[in-house]
Amino acid sequence: MKWGIMGPGNIVRRVSRSFAVADGPEMFAIASRSEERAKAAAEAYHTQRWYGSYEELVRDPDVEAVYVATPASLHCEHACLALEHGKPVLCEKPFAVTEAEAKRMADCARANDVFLMEAMWTRFIPSILKARQWVDEGRIGKVVMIQADMGFYGSKEPPVAPSQPVPSVGGMLDIGVYTLSFASYMLHKMPLEVKAFGSFNPFGVDNQGVAILRYDQGELVSMQTAGQAETANEAWIYGTDGKIHVPKWFWCAQKAVLHPRDGESEVFEHRTAAEGFEFELLEVERCIRAGLKESPNMPLDESIDIIRNINRIRCDWH
Ligand SMILES: NC(=O)c1ccc[n+]([C@@H]2O[C@H](COP(=O)([O-])OP(=O)(O)OC[C@H]3O[C@@H](n4cnc5c(N)ncnc54)[C@H](OP(=O)(O)O)[C@@H]3O)[C@@H](O)[C@H]2O)c1
Repeated sequence: MKWGIMGPGNIVRRVSRSFAVADGPEMFAIASRSEERAKAAAEAYHTQRWYGSYEELVRDPDVEAVYVATPASLHCEHACLALEHGKPVLCEKPFAVTEAEAKRMADCARANDVFLMEAMWTRFIPSILKARQWVDEGRIGKVVMIQADMGFYGSKEPPVAPSQPVPSVGGMLDIGVYTLSFASYMLHKMPLEVKAFGSFNPFGVDNQGVAILRYDQGELVSMQTAGQAETANEAWIYGTDGKIHVPKWFWCAQKAVLHPRDGESEVFEHRTAAEGFEFELLEVERCIRAGLKESPNMPLDESIDIIRNINRIRCDWH
């Protein structure tokens, strides 16, 4: 399928490697707010077309799907621009900054009868799918606790003022969505209650956070995000009859291990030639070809729920 890329930034550099290895998706056109950057990106990624505005990209009749890779505070505007031009959209995570924006995006997709999906690539990684299959098959009994963390060393330089409005940044929104989405994927539901603490840099941006979530049958999820320290970056799913370990870097892990309460451990491993973004690209193409308007593995209502709940967590400390 011929893809149009909106916003040639950091993530596009990484996702371009997945386009290169995936059989089907093609980086066909790229758009920037600047002609110069669009042209440079087209040369770097060997796209057939480039545009100095996002409007021109969505008006290209040959573009079959749009990948919105701009900062989170602009996802709503840019996804809706593409949807209103009838283009199916894969929109980077976090899906939106606020629940209202997330709803507007879903409404826009539905009103225009066009496909839209949050680029929560973790949900399409084979080892994560295997872990979910083990959970759904009851291989670890009833899930009672989940633990997941995501943390990276920050710069040794003093923090600089964020270039984006504060609500669009911060660890809990930017990377907390991975841990919350992972829990939601495994439990098939959203928390009843949240309790959270965050610590902030001098610009009021949360650079670390811890949250505990409680679900309707007493399940507990503990999640951590860190922007100044590298954490284990693992996920554990604990059940009454065993546990599942998704090792470092859990959101794109190439391995998952089932440890039953009784019996031998089972290891699932897979190899990818790129980072793993190719699986979400293929899912989008599969859905579009099947005439689906959303992915059953990352439905729009769940993306909205995740943004609502990540903001509940953020509200707990604001
Ligand atoms: N899935 C993952 O693993 C992963 C990893 C990193 C980031 N992300 C997500 O990908 C999205 C983009 O992140 P990124 O790190 O690639 O961002 P970035 O490099 O800071 O920005 C991406 C592009 O957005 C465009 N843009 C449009 N309006 C802008 C504005 N007002 N200010 C700044 N840039 C603007 C810029 O391109 P032009 O100005 O040239 O048009 C820029 O190159 C975010 O939602 C982020 O959370 C996902």
